Amino acid sequence: MKKNILITGGAGFIGSHVVRRFVNTYPDYHIFNLDSLTYAGNLENLRDIETKENYTFLKGDITNENYINKIFEEYDFDSVIHLAAESHVDRSISDPLAFAKTNILGTMILLNAVRVKWKDDFQNKLFYHISTDEVYGTLGEDGLFTENTPYDPNSPYSASKASSDHFVRAYGETYNLPYIISNCSNNYGPFQFPEKLIPLFINNIINDKPLPVYGDGNYTRDWLFVKDHALAIDNVFHNGKEKETYNIGGFNEWKNIDLVILLCKIMDEKLNRSKENSSEKLITYVKDRPGHDLRYAIDASKIEKELGWQPTVTFEEGLEKTINWYLNNIEWLQSVISGEYLEYYKKQYNK
Ligand code: NAD
Ligand code: DAU
Repeated sequence: MKKNILITGGAGFIGSHVVRRFVNTYPDYHIFNLDSLTYAGNLENLRDIETKENYTFLKGDITNENYINKIFEEYDFDSVIHLAAESHVDRSISDPLAFAKTNILGTMILLNAVRVKWKDDFQNKLFYHISTDEVYGTLGEDGLFTENTPYDPNSPYSASKASSDHFVRAYGETYNLPYIISNCSNNYGPFQFPEKLIPLFINNIINDKPLPVYGDGNYTRDWLFVKDHALAIDNVFHNGKEKETYNIGGFNEWKNIDLVILLCKIMDEKLNRSKENSSEKLITYVKDRPGHDLRYAIDASKIEKELGWQPTVTFEEGLEKTINWYLNNIEWLQSVISGEYLEYYKKQYNK
């Protein structure tokens, strides 16, 4: 079936894996990747597919209402997969308004454009919102987040994502807009901007820089390889039920400090560092993140049972692939950190 799909945030980490999967797997779909190319968006992530006939890049900002309305008039989108967001918790603590603007207002502007454009015909239409497990707040030492866990966000980032989830649901109830939401745990893998724990620490180990562990390091996250998230998004998009929520996670909890020690061990092997010179000596305990959530852990049994999705990559395999990718792509790392690359592409696409 032919479809015109708008994917927002497709030049970012998860978005680029989703765009690649859809462009390569579904030649009948035309994929429009809308991204404003913030510091986190990088067209290098999509170089292998950028000349495909079923792919179009649109440089634009989801908070620009005129622009969003214009593209909805210009292209006949059947579906939206919405990933564009400010995504880093630490940045949300220093600049909360930027998160409210993109994550809340930007999502509403998209919802409104969809409501106006699809008003008389919701058949075969879908607004799929990609969200996070952080909306549920924090767990104690035990228990798992289910789709029925009440929202209880603690950071400006998670509050903005919770708010956007609420607006998506509200548009579903009020205007009958067909939507699905999925809430995923921590992703890792190739093309992740080196501000998040795993790529930041890989980069710092390569460069012999301190590894800043927040607080006592006894915080727990549930890690999923990014390509498994892209597979889940594909599955939910095609098989998920309208007005439902799906939690996505790999039943793969790690305390930060244990994960950091494992990373050091694998990196030492790759970089031929001796025990005496182990990267572990770079571990530095620093001031805690304000409002730091103790533990996230997803109960992914609904998506497993109802849609037959399961992770395909073990954590050992995923970490190995990720570390190898960063070691083989040092230039990518240097360019996204320097910002030179972004400048180059901004010039290319600023028409
Ligand atoms: P990212 O920061 O790597 O990418 C975000 C992308 O959105 C970038 O390409 C950026 O240029 C674009 N963008 C930002 N503001 C924009 C705007 N105003 N207009 C248009 N484009 C804009 O983020 P990510 O880690 O790939 O996360 C993608 C989505 O998945 C987000 O909605 C995030 O909340 C959600 N999520 C992320 C994780 C994770 O572990 N990274 C887990 C669960 C859910
Ligand atoms: O759970 C899903 C969320 O995972 C996504 O919605 C977010 O977009 C994504 O950024 C991620 O949020 P976290 O805050 O969990 O990820 P981060 O990589 O920033 O941190 C992971 C853990 O590591 C967290 O407990 C904080 C800690 N940490 C992080 C950094 C960057 C450190 O100890 N030191 C650091 O330098």
